[in-house]
Amino acid sequence: MKNHKIIVANWKMNPETLREAVVLARASDKKSVVICPPFPFVESVMRHVRRAEVGAQDVFWEERGAYTGEVSSAMLKKLGARFVIVGHSERRRWLGETDEMINKKAKAALKAGLTVILCVGEPLSVRRHGLAAAKRFVAGQLKKDLNSLNSISYILNSRLIVAYEPIWAIGTGRPDKPSDTVEMSRFIKKFLHSKSYILNSKVLYGGSVNSKNVKSFLHYKEIDGALVGGASVNAREFKKITRIVATL
Ligand code: PGA
Repeated sequence: MKNHKIIVANWKMNPETLREAVVLARASDKKSVVICPPFPFVESVMRHVRRAEVGAQDVFWEERGAYTGEVSSAMLKKLGARFVIVGHSERRRWLGETDEMINKKAKAALKAGLTVILCVGEPLSVRRHGLAAAKRFVAGQLKKDLNSLNSISYILNSRLIVAYEPIWAIGTGRPDKPSDTVEMSRFIKKFLHSKSYILNSKVLYGGSVNSKNVKSFLHYKEIDGALVGGASVNAREFKKITRIVATL
C-alpha cells in the first residue's frame, strides 16, 4: 500500500478454534495489516503470517508477579508481537477499565517497546449534543489516558496510534459520517501536538467499517487507517477491504 494506511483486524473473542484462527490469519496476511487475535492464538498466528504484523487486544501494566489471568508487555514483546490495543470501549464497558488503568497499560506497553493503539470515542449520549461535545469528551479521555506520557514524547511520536471509535458506531452497522471523522481526526492530531508535543500522530477510524464504506473514510489524508472488528473475522470481506485500501 503506497500510502501506508494501517488496517487493524480486531478479532475480539473470535474465532473459537485454533484451526479457524490459522485459516483466517493466512487469508488476512497482507502488508499494512495488524492482526489482533485473542491471546491463545497470538503465537500461532505469528508463525503463519509473513506480511502482516501481529498484536494483542489487551495487556497488563505490571511486568511480572501475582496477577492471575494477566499478560505482560514483556511477554508479548518477547513473543514477537509489535502492537497492542489499549482502552477498547468494550473493555471499558465490560471489564470496568478506567482511564487511570488505561494510562498505566499504555505506559507499560510503550516502555516495553510495543506500539500502542489507544482507543477513544464518545457514547451516543454525548454525540447527541454535537461534534463539539464529542471533541471535548475525546480530549478528556486523551488527557487522562496519556497522562504524564509527554515526557517521553519522542517515543510516542513513532509508537502511539489513536483509534477514534465512537461507541455508538461499533458493531451497529451505523458508521460515523466520514466528514465528521475527518474533523475529529484533525482535532486529535492538533490536541496531541499542542498538549503532548506529539508530531505526525496517526489516527485510525473504527466502527462498522466494511468493504462498502472503507474507501469513504480512508481516501481522506487525515484518516490514517481503520480498526475493523466484525468484518475482520469474515475472510472474504476482509480481503475485499485490504484490496480496496491497496488501491488508494
Ligand atoms: P466493528 O468493531 O467493526 O465490528 O464495529 C470495531 C471495533 O470495536 O474495534
